[in-house]
Amino acid sequence: MRSRVVGTGSAVPDRVLNNHDLEKMVDTTDEWITTRTGIKERRIASSDDFTSTLATRAALNALDMAGIEPAELDMIIVATVTPDYPFPSTAALLQNNIKAVNASAFDISAACSGFVYAASIVDKFIKSGTVKNALVVGSEILSRIVDWSDRNSCLLFGDGAGAVVLQADNGNSGILDTFMMSDGSNWDLLYQPAPGNRNPASYKVVDERLAFIRMQGNEVFKLAVRAMEDAAIKALAAGHMTPADVDLFIPHQANRRIIDAIGKRLGIPAEKVYVNIERFGNTSSASIPIALDEANRKGLIKPDNILLLDAFGGGMAWGAVTIRW
Ligand code: UT7
Repeated sequence: MRSRVVGTGSAVPDRVLNNHDLEKMVDTTDEWITTRTGIKERRIASSDDFTSTLATRAALNALDMAGIEPAELDMIIVATVTPDYPFPSTAALLQNNIKAVNASAFDISAACSGFVYAASIVDKFIKSGTVKNALVVGSEILSRIVDWSDRNSCLLFGDGAGAVVLQADNGNSGILDTFMMSDGSNWDLLYQPAPGNRNPASYKVVDERLAFIRMQGNEVFKLAVRAMEDAAIKALAAGHMTPADVDLFIPHQANRRIIDAIGKRLGIPAEKVYVNIERFGNTSSASIPIALDEANRKGLIKPDNILLLDAFGGGMAWGAVTIRW
C-alpha cells in the first residue's frame, strides 16, 4: 500500500513586500538580500488572513484537484509554528471550515520540517491500512512573529499555505521512503521565546520582544546544508536510489545559497531543483507544499518521476521524503 499524491493546492496572501520596501524599514539593501538569500519579495497576510484561513484555501484547492469530498477524509494534519490559537489546533479549525466530519485532526510542531514530518506520519497510517484519504497542510503567518526591527531575520520570512491530499493506493506511485531526525541540543538557534509557559503573557513579553523569532542565522545555515544532504541521501538509500535517480528536487526554501549548496553536494543539476524563494521567501512548513503545487500545476512533474522533498529547521528537525509520481 502506498500514499499517492492525488491533489495539491496552495494559497498566499495578496500583499507583496519587496526588498525595496524593507530598505525603508531596516538598515539593508535589495542587493544584500538578493545576493545573500535569493529573496526578492515575500507575501504578507492582511488583518483578515489567519493560518487557518490560508490552510482552508490551500486545502480546498487540493481537494478540488483530487476530486475528493471533505467528508471522505480520515485524517487532517496541519504543520505550523504559527497556529491561530495555542489551542485548539489549527487543524480543528480547518476541519470545521471544510466540514471534514469524518476525520481526526491535529497539528504538529516541527517548524520548517513540519510538512515533511506530517507527510511521513500520514504515510505510516496509510501503510498500516488505518487511513484511506488524508490531508496534509503546511500553513504559516510568520509575519506576525517576525521582529520587523531585526535585519538579521526579518528579510527571510513570508506567509502562505500549501496542501496535499494523500490517498491509499495499491499501485507503484506514491511515497516511497521517509527519513526524519532531530537534534534538540541546538533548540535555541532558532526559536520564539513567547507565548508559552516559560514566558506567559506579561508586560515583560512585550518589553523584551519575546514574542518574536530569534535566530542565529549563520549557525542554522551551516547545520542546514549538512543535515539536508544527509536526509536526502538516507531517504534515497532506503529505496536503493541515489541523487542521480531524482527527476525533481523540492527543497525547503530557506536561502538560495543553502539550496544551491545542497544541490551541488548531491550532484543534482540546477534544472532539476525547484526554486521559488525569490517570490515567497521562507514560509517554513508551507514552503515545500507551495513549491510542489506550483511545479505540479505547471506540468513539471510527469508520471513515474522521482521527487525528493527535503527540509531543515527549528528544533533542530530535519527530514526527507521520496515520491514516485
Ligand atoms: O528555515 C530554516 C531556518 N532558517 C534558515 O535556514 C536561515 C539560515 N541562515 C541564513 O539564511 C543566513 O545566515 C542569513 C541570510 C540570515 C544571514 O546571511 P549570512 O551570510 O549568514 O550573514 P551574517 O549573519 O554572517 O552577516 C554578515 C554581515 C554582518 O555584518 P558584519 O558583522 O560582517 O559587519 C551582518 O551584520 O551582514 C550583516 N547583515 C546585513 N547587512 C545588510 C546581516 N543582515 C543584514 C541585512 N542587510 N539584512
